[in-house]
Amino acid sequence: MVKIISAKWILPSTEERPFKHGFLVIDRDKIIDLGSKEEILPKYPNSEVIDLGNKIIFPGLVNAHTHVPMSIFRGIAEDLPLMVWLKEYIFPIEAKLREEWVYWGTKLSLIEMIKSGIAIFCDMYLFEKEVIRAVEESGLKALVGEGIFDFPSPSYGPLERGFELTEELLKNFEKHPQIKIAVSPHTLYTCSPETVKRCIKLSEKYNAKLHIHLCETKEEIEEVKKRYGKRPVEILKELGGINENLIAVHCVKLNFEEIELMAKLSAKIVHCPESNLKLGSGIAPLTEMLRAGIKVGLGTDGPASNNDLDIFSEMRTASLIQKGIKEDPTVIKSEDVLKMATFWGAEILGFSESGKLLPGYKADLAVLDLSHYSLQPDYNPLALLVYSAKNGFVSDLMIEGKWIMRDYKILTINEEEVIEKVKKIKKEILSLLF
Ligand code: NI
Repeated sequence: MVKIISAKWILPSTEERPFKHGFLVIDRDKIIDLGSKEEILPKYPNSEVIDLGNKIIFPGLVNAHTHVPMSIFRGIAEDLPLMVWLKEYIFPIEAKLREEWVYWGTKLSLIEMIKSGIAIFCDMYLFEKEVIRAVEESGLKALVGEGIFDFPSPSYGPLERGFELTEELLKNFEKHPQIKIAVSPHTLYTCSPETVKRCIKLSEKYNAKLHIHLCETKEEIEEVKKRYGKRPVEILKELGGINENLIAVHCVKLNFEEIELMAKLSAKIVHCPESNLKLGSGIAPLTEMLRAGIKVGLGTDGPASNNDLDIFSEMRTASLIQKGIKEDPTVIKSEDVLKMATFWGAEILGFSESGKLLPGYKADLAVLDLSHYSLQPDYNPLALLVYSAKNGFVSDLMIEGKWIMRDYKILTINEEEVIEKVKKIKKEILSLLF
């Protein structure tokens, strides 16, 4: 039997006008119809109808780059340059990383993402099997990959085992409805060109995404140029890694020729504006990327460098900083950033049936509660989503036709249990560090 849901507003995508008092028809995991009460109710008699009231139903958001287990490190080292933050704090703590930290850190992040209306995300970290276990339990969807780098990993040990593990995951999750696997070399300063080449070959063998941090800081460009005499994009191009399966994260320091090249070869970019600002990395040339025709997603990056997992605020920041640096408020529109956070993000991660609330698409949707005072009045539902909504304003989340959160209550995760476990983990981390 089909389910019908309605609310004051339905925002099907950035290409359709917001639908006032619309009715959305869901059959199992898919949307099959959308229309007014008069059109829909007589067509589907005896169906369950849920009226959500004074709310906006919108496509579930996509966090296209993060490191979810790192929520356990939120606030552990602040106000430092990326290389100092990584080398002096994060890498030494990660050398002592435990599987259960990854599992509970993931769950903490999942709670935050669910409450921010995120349905799909992309993760790169260690002990990814634990991330997968938590994601499967939560009902969210994810593209995940074990981070590959040349030095020994606290998770898989020597590099060779990293390739074996990635291939094992690629095989095991080839047909999985919720989980997709990416080959995830960390960067060109933690992976040699030979390592990246092997990653590219592996991604080609399984037609998998290649997920890598690229051109994040000027120090990265200098380090790579010092070692190899070339810029990171040039190396990646020579290795054959720039193609439609590339998910290049950050790209703060891309020059004009590199933007043109990425566009020509259909590579995808993920923009993480708040992490780039917080780490003082700079501001990515987003308007130039969009003008060149590149599909760009939005990511929070890890919760230890952001320090949250709120895609609403990434949309707002992405838009505001471009308007500010260009001294032109028309340079980017609210539709552009919402598209990045919905169906472009979904497509970039390989979930192209998600990101729109139209017949044929997956029923992945979130519900924004207009009873919050900063969401009134509702002249423009799309602008409310982009400029006024915040983490915690989402009352309901549905993924593939199943409720994950209903009226602010997460149905798939025990929130109190997660908070208790994370308190315990904080004590363990402090006892190992100090
Ligand atoms: Ni990152």
